[in-house]
Order: sequence, then C-alpha cells, then structure tokens
Amino acid sequence: MDAIELLETQHEEVKQLFKKCEKARGESKRQLFEQIADALAVHASIEEKHFYPATKSARTEDLLQEAVEEHLSVKRIIADLLDMDPAEAQFDAKITVLQEQVEHHVKEEEGDLFPQVKKLLSKDQLEDLGLVMEDAAEELESGGAPRAAVPGETGEAAPI
Ligand SMILES: [Fe+2]
Repeated sequence: MDAIELLETQHEEVKQLFKKCEKARGESKRQLFEQIADALAVHASIEEKHFYPATKSARTEDLLQEAVEEHLSVKRIIADLLDMDPAEAQFDAKITVLQEQVEHHVKEEEGDLFPQVKKLLSKDQLEDLGLVMEDAAEELESGGAPRAAVPGETGEAAPI
C-alpha cells in the first residue's frame, strides 16, 4: 500500500467506527470511542512524523500548517473525552463535534492535500513512504493504547 492508500484506508476505518459509535450506548460506546481515539492517535502520529515532513513543499505548506492545527483541535477533544464518562450529558455532543472535525479534516486531505502530494512524489516514493508509515503504525499499536499519548500532545500543534 502506498502512503496515500494507507491514509485513505485509515480514514475509512475511522468513518466506520464513528457510524457504529453513533448507535452504541454505555460501555460499548466507551469501547468504540477508545478504538476511535487509538486509530486517530496512530493516524495523526504517522502523518506528523512521516507523511507531512516528506510532503512539505511551497505548494503544500499552507495545507500542512492547517492540518496540524486540525490535529491539535482533534487531540484536545479526544483528551476531554478520555476524562469523561459516557453517561455525562456532554459526552455524545463532544463525540459528534469530534466526528465533524475529523470529517472536515479528511475532506481537505483527500480533496486538496493528497492531489498535491501525487504531483510531488513518484509512485515509488509513495510506496517507500507507505512502508515506513505502516511500520510506525504497527509499532504504536503493539505498544498498547496509542490514545494514552494524546493528552500530552494538546499544548501546541506538531511542528512540520
Ligand atoms: Fe490528518
């Protein structure tokens, strides 16, 4: 899988988890939220550490700066939710806001950033980058709960 295919696959997985989460209640809602938080933590990390630095150029810089600000906002909502109980009145509303922000971010990446990146990098470069990102994702997943890192990343946007 090349880097863009990998990220699009992750976008689709998160979209499906949000759909399930909408219908869930109580403990299963919390578990689905934790899966979403893990998936988004891994996704943001491999983008910030690998994909964004590798795709930074005069054409993409503005998009990347916006992307890391969106990641920051998403991480802050995740950090809030990790501290909440699904029975709390604002839990569902906060998940809905998280979902909306992720949908917006995905739309911009798939609609604006990825087409630019396809002009910048060759298929081979995207394949190599995809391998590095897959390894990084597996390492994060094997380390336990990737979401645990999120509350420590809410101070400022990741540098690109
Ligand atoms: Fe992203």
